[in-house]
Amino acid sequence: MKNIKAIIFDAYGTLFDVNSAAEKCKDKIGDKWEGFANYWRTTQLEYTWLRSLMKRHKDFWQVTEESLNKSMKAYEIDSSMRNELLDLYKILSPFKEVPEVLKSLKEKNFKLAILSNGTPSLLKELVKSNNLENIFDDIFSIEEVRVYKPDSKVYDIPIKKYHIQRNEVAFLSANTWDVSGGGNYGYNSIWVNRNNNIFDNLDYVPKHQIDHLSRLLDII
Ligand code: LAC
Repeated sequence: MKNIKAIIFDAYGTLFDVNSAAEKCKDKIGDKWEGFANYWRTTQLEYTWLRSLMKRHKDFWQVTEESLNKSMKAYEIDSSMRNELLDLYKILSPFKEVPEVLKSLKEKNFKLAILSNGTPSLLKELVKSNNLENIFDDIFSIEEVRVYKPDSKVYDIPIKKYHIQRNEVAFLSANTWDVSGGGNYGYNSIWVNRNNNIFDNLDYVPKHQIDHLSRLLDII
């Protein structure tokens, strides 16, 4: 990976732990918290893909709420938990190594950006609540094109803004389908595989696979 000019990160699941909202309520939800959190996440992503295919866009916050409604029914979670879960979703915790790695990268000469399904205001609040607001040159949201990942219009956003080639981007995501989306588009995609998962068969092999974001410092 030579000539990298921009390091671009996916947000949800890559920098920020999407399960942390339900985990913070595990005393109230009980043992099913993790199954519920995974179901919520899967439903949320399915809704993004389905809405883009149906051309019936709603923003990521609406999708997050609507997928939560279904998931709470499926897991018989008391409706009094709804607002608490949503409030916690706005301030998800980062994975442990994230702040330090981002601060080290900031000292190097790359553009650093987020490219996410989240709305601009959600992403801004998320970054701010974790004291990361001075790290990123840009926080790109799919709301600019109103279609969800992995539509190529999304991956076009930073290329147009920075006037760089696709292969000058290192793109990091923990979401296998997003790694494939960015990779098929022409990015150098790096898979952050924290949980020893299996990769997809979607015509792309990640340029690198790392189990921890700090390994990025050895590659770049
Ligand atoms: C995002 C989703 C993929 O942040 O997690 O774009």
